[in-house]
Amino acid sequence: MSHQSESELNAIERLDKEYVFGTWSYQSEVQPTQITDADGVRFTDADGNEFIDFSGQLMCSNLGHSASKVKDAINEQTEKVPYVAPNYTTEARAKLGEKLAEVTPGNLSKTFFSTSGTEAVEAAIKIAKFYTGKEKIVSRYRSYHGATYGSISVTGDPRRLASEPGMPGAIKAPDPYAYGSTLDPMESLEYIDEMLMLEGDSVAAVLVEPIVGSNGILVPPEEYLPRLKEIAHDHGALLICDEVMAGFGRTGEWFGSDVFGVTPDIMTMAKGLSGAYQPLGATIVTPEIAEHFEENMLTHGHTYAGHPVACAAGLAAIETYQEENLIERAAETGEYLGARLEELAAAHPSVGDTRGVGLFHGIELTKREGERAPFGTREDKVSKGSTVVDEVAAEAYDHGTYVANMINTLIVAPPLTITEAEIDEAVETLDAALKVSDAAMEG
Ligand SMILES: Cc1ncc(COP(=O)(O)O)c(C=O)c1O
Repeated sequence: MSHQSESELNAIERLDKEYVFGTWSYQSEVQPTQITDADGVRFTDADGNEFIDFSGQLMCSNLGHSASKVKDAINEQTEKVPYVAPNYTTEARAKLGEKLAEVTPGNLSKTFFSTSGTEAVEAAIKIAKFYTGKEKIVSRYRSYHGATYGSISVTGDPRRLASEPGMPGAIKAPDPYAYGSTLDPMESLEYIDEMLMLEGDSVAAVLVEPIVGSNGILVPPEEYLPRLKEIAHDHGALLICDEVMAGFGRTGEWFGSDVFGVTPDIMTMAKGLSGAYQPLGATIVTPEIAEHFEENMLTHGHTYAGHPVACAAGLAAIETYQEENLIERAAETGEYLGARLEELAAAHPSVGDTRGVGLFHGIELTKREGERAPFGTREDKVSKGSTVVDEVAAEAYDHGTYVANMINTLIVAPPLTITEAEIDEAVETLDAALKVSDAAMEG
């Protein structure tokens, strides 16, 4: 996202660069941009440049930047009770728990609240281990589950490598990556079946993103997730669905799991849960799992578990999704977005694949037409410098569209409030930006 050289940083950006670490970065490469305003699906930098937020920041601003009900709920809760310890409750926390039982699939019913996606995953890992009495977690290579020690250990992508060896018992499986893997998506499942058999009743849970997010928007075949649940249960393991990115309308359904009609045993959420207006994570479980902790201690907690202001934001966010029919709307607008991205693919030889569901799409690039020849590799993700994919995103940014990218894929995940006209505007800038990758192709 760095569009300016160091000498162009303003006073605030310089202060930030000197005193604040940039995330996931070589600090010498960090070029902070000061954002001074955000409205609807747009945000504005300190120089007055306006951007369409085509990725909802980190695929989390599902309500856009002007959700007045959420803002009001935050202000009211801050006035009333800004904080109480987790051994107390508040109306916001209790009602948000009830609301999550309502909107999550099947019989998922009891929630542990935290403040982020990674904490939601940490809680899921511990609950699965405590409940089953087993110690291993099977997750997949093309996955991201968070930055803290347990979550980074079950993460498959290269961000894990610097923290290895990590948590014992974190085992990786192949993914349903139709475009790039040598394994057919359904074959990859039978491999997991075999893995679980060979691990011999020691696996607490299989943990997956139902639709892989930052590792490239990988949508499995319809029958994949139901069969995965069956395989996990056949081997006495739980299914944990990490809905941190796919949840809350992103896919045109409440959750990625809903796309496949599956109720996992444990589900993790964050990001869209509060529309990113407050740091809020949640881990919800079935009644059977909840029951276990009636007489077995839940040895887990945080000072900010169930923070009243965050819970008030979460409750208002879910009410906003419901009152404004944003889930159904995302499904409809998503059809339009998908069609517009297919047009881009037809017009640009460097677009190898577009895929997605709802308002959750990936544009994967190739440097040789008709072949899978990525410009950006997994190694690049943790190396210095920029790739052609970074350059395409930078070009789009210079023309007023912010789009996140990861390894070899541009990630399109705008606020669910985006209009078709705003999609057209952003697609037009992507159309111009993809000329950069077209020009960089190998003959
Ligand atoms: C699927 C998934 N799980 C977990 C996380 C971690 O969430 P957080 O960054 O809030 O800790 C992310 C973040 O992108 C994610 O996409």
